[in-house]
Amino acid sequence: MTGLFITLEGPEGAGKTTNREYLAARLRAEGIDVVLTREPGGTPLAERIRELLLAPSDDAMCADTELLLVFAARAQHLAEVIRPALERGAVVLCDRFTDATYAYQGGGRGLSKERIATLESFVQGHLRPDLTLVFDLPIEVGMARASARGRLDRFEQEGRTFFDAVRSTYLQRAEAAPQRYRLIDAAQSLEHVQAQLDALMPQVLGLYRG
Ligand SMILES: Nc1ncnc2c1ncn2[C@@H]1O[C@H](COP(=O)(O)OP(=O)(O)OP(=O)(O)O)[C@@H](O)[C@H]1O
Ligand SMILES: [Mg+2]
Repeated sequence: MTGLFITLEGPEGAGKTTNREYLAARLRAEGIDVVLTREPGGTPLAERIRELLLAPSDDAMCADTELLLVFAARAQHLAEVIRPALERGAVVLCDRFTDATYAYQGGGRGLSKERIATLESFVQGHLRPDLTLVFDLPIEVGMARASARGRLDRFEQEGRTFFDAVRSTYLQRAEAAPQRYRLIDAAQSLEHVQAQLDALMPQVLGLYRG
């Protein structure tokens, strides 16, 4: 595959969606074909699975069901959007991907890494992001930003312990594979966050142009 697969990760309100647009604009200014997408979702069917995952419900969803739905949506997204885009040489900027599964279903729900890794190989084969930007910030700062949006989804209704585990899983994964991950200090002002992204642009362009 000739494109570049970049994922944006981090807890609620970290600025993933806001900065995905910023990065896309910077890359498009270089004449690069950019595909913006997100998980769970990114295709009509996968967006329907997203609704199942995010809708608050009195009917408890067991952790394995949640995990399988996440990967079911991912299989569709890979087949319909991500792989074709990479094959034609685009940069794919994806808001959350499998690191979020390790963070939320692994760290948050307590499912084992091995179980997630099995599904990761099954659904993705050898495909992994080329670069993962982890937007890191204190949980309460992100929640304050996200809750300004209104009604909380099924994950946002979780408590402190869940989100501490989400954050620490992201940080552990970034630390374990520094060649793939870049930590962004997302607690800073948007201007300063974007300055951090500007500083990464030469590396991103280098990876893309090989
Ligand atoms: N660095 C920043 N400083 C202050 N506010 C910010 C910053 N970055 C983003 N915001 C604001 O915080 C809110 C959440 O940002 P955004 O939607 O980009 O986060 P997200 O990581 O995509 O969250 P979610 O995981 O819930 O989708 C938005 O209203 C956005 O304008
Ligand atoms: Mg978002």
